[in-house]
Amino acid sequence: MEWVSGIIFILGTLGLISAWRVLNWVWLKPKKLEKLLREQGLHGNSYRILVGDIKDLFKMEKEAKSKPMNLSDDIIPRVSPYIQKSIKIHGKNSFIWFGTKPRVTLTEPEQIKDVLNKISEFPKTNYKIFKLLASGLASYQGEKWSKHRKLINPAFHLEKLKIMTPAFLESCNDLIRKWEEVLSSDASCEIDIWPSLQNLASDAISRAAFGSSYEEGKRIFQLQREQAEHIIKLVTKSIIPLWMFLPAIVHKRMNEIDKDIKSSLKDIINKREKALKTGESTTNDLLSILLESNHKEIEENANNKNVGMSLDDVVEECKLFYFAGQETTSVLLVWTMILLSRYPDWQRRAREEVLQIFGNKKPDFDGLNNLKIVTMILYEVLRLYPPDSELWGDDAKMFNPERFSEGISKATNGRVSFFPFGWGPRICIGQNFSLIEAKMAMTMILQHFSFQLSPTYAHAPSASITLQPQYGAQIIIRKVET
Ligand code: HEM
Repeated sequence: MEWVSGIIFILGTLGLISAWRVLNWVWLKPKKLEKLLREQGLHGNSYRILVGDIKDLFKMEKEAKSKPMNLSDDIIPRVSPYIQKSIKIHGKNSFIWFGTKPRVTLTEPEQIKDVLNKISEFPKTNYKIFKLLASGLASYQGEKWSKHRKLINPAFHLEKLKIMTPAFLESCNDLIRKWEEVLSSDASCEIDIWPSLQNLASDAISRAAFGSSYEEGKRIFQLQREQAEHIIKLVTKSIIPLWMFLPAIVHKRMNEIDKDIKSSLKDIINKREKALKTGESTTNDLLSILLESNHKEIEENANNKNVGMSLDDVVEECKLFYFAGQETTSVLLVWTMILLSRYPDWQRRAREEVLQIFGNKKPDFDGLNNLKIVTMILYEVLRLYPPDSELWGDDAKMFNPERFSEGISKATNGRVSFFPFGWGPRICIGQNFSLIEAKMAMTMILQHFSFQLSPTYAHAPSASITLQPQYGAQIIIRKVET
């Protein structure tokens, strides 16, 4: 009978270890962290078991999102009501409980700079479920991150972006053609520009990333969008990793999508590798540039494959390009058009500049780099939500691109108060890519159309990773006669 008591002993020990782990996760660790945070002078609510502040936070956010707001109202109470409340109650350097994990809010530029610079002391939070969407550069740490950053960097150099400009032109042309068709012979018409701009950004990243395999790339990106919808639904509904409790049907579909995306991307990559070897393909899209950079690195290191990226690594980076490059640029464009509708004088000044540089001609890379007013406007759109009046002065909440007339460092007095693309070593690798794309899109839109807000537009900025127009962006467009 000795073996029976042996098994009972093992099971008992395993049970105790599991119980200890659960206790540590739901209570001991959060309480220890709370003590440490308070010792550092940070304030916040006391930890509440398992849920923390999450129930109150979701309730407040749901309520805030339930109705649109006035155009001139401050957006913070709608977009980040709980953080705002926490700062009001607990002061500027405070924390909230996202389930069992505390989240610290920082508002001082020097502290923000410190955190963004010290990437090994403040590593990224890795949510397993997001890995189904994409891992890649944005989620790696340490050596793997530096290796990938070094290999991907060349794909975003300015001379490479110049080669990709025709891809942006093509996507913008499609958008202009579609809007012209809708306008037809009418003097004006109303369009919800939000889906069009999302489509534009997804088209542009697909062409720029995959060139000749663009159609297949677009299909993959659509699958990624479906995957993102499943994941966002899950994440917003739950705080605990509930992946294992997913309804079987959703689980099955997500796995199917994952397999389909991976095998289609592998196909594209393998074909491209062959075409590059035989000289049938030129390096004028992100994928080819990435593969070329990878080969170079392997060759320079005596064909040691460990220094380069594996096929799976390249798949993950391609998946990431879509997410990082699509939603970000489309929101920049949608808010730019909404703001230029609200401020017709800036719309006029931007159009004057565009017509002066390009006339009715198709925009080119060098001309886009000479746009000053349009650049100031894009920076101001990136700054505007959410500004802090202590850093930006009394007109912090005003749309005033003029503040960027002498560049970013003059506008910020050299402080880290403007970092739409992040800061430090992990600064956005695609910032020039997205600014060129946004300038191309705005140039062509301004060349062809004038626009104003429709009376049906309901102002409702809503934060879901990026800041989106909750009910779309209904704009009235008119043909510009030049
Ligand atoms: C308006 C457009 C965009 C904005 C506002 C934006 C913003 C950001 C921010 C804030 C980060 C830093 C996150 C952090 O601190 O870790 C980031 C990282 C990144 N972005 Fe962007 N982004 C934009 C467009 C793009 C585009 C078009 C691409 C690619 C085609 C891209 C690719 C990436 C990648 C790969 C990273 C990770 C960099 C790293 O961790 O080393 N982004 N972006």
